[in-house]
Amino acid sequence: MNEYQKMLMYLKIMMCNLAILHHNIVGDGWFEAHGEIDRWQGDIADYLDDLIERGIALGYQEPTISEAVLAFQTDVLPADKRSRNESYKIVMECMRSAAGLMQASEPIVPADVQNKLQEIEYYLNKEGNYKLAAALGGMKGRKPEMDYDDD
Ligand SMILES: [Fe+2]
Repeated sequence: MNEYQKMLMYLKIMMCNLAILHHNIVGDGWFEAHGEIDRWQGDIADYLDDLIERGIALGYQEPTISEAVLAFQTDVLPADKRSRNESYKIVMECMRSAAGLMQASEPIVPADVQNKLQEIEYYLNKEGNYKLAAALGGMKGRKPEMDYDDD
């Protein structure tokens, strides 16, 4: 698997994780968070579909869910009940990881795909580092640049 396929595998896991978070949120802010997580999942589903199809055109076979689970086993979330803030923190980390993996895959793809990846990174950074960070009340002191952390 190359860096692009690795990024696709992570997005597949992220989709499943967003579903788990969407279904298992409890407590204050339920309506807001349930709806927002659904919206992120829908946006990322559309981006993932686009990236998989463009990848196939480049000769990158679509990774299966089994391959994705094997590669990102420790990222698969258990179906625990979670508060709004706990769920939002997890979404924020997922968005940062996804954006980091997208950056890492840019060098191997043509310019048009790089542009698409940058568009999605922009979306992920806006939702994660601005909206989610603001919702969690922790925007102060955060560097504007993305740091990818793969642990
Ligand atoms: Fe739903």
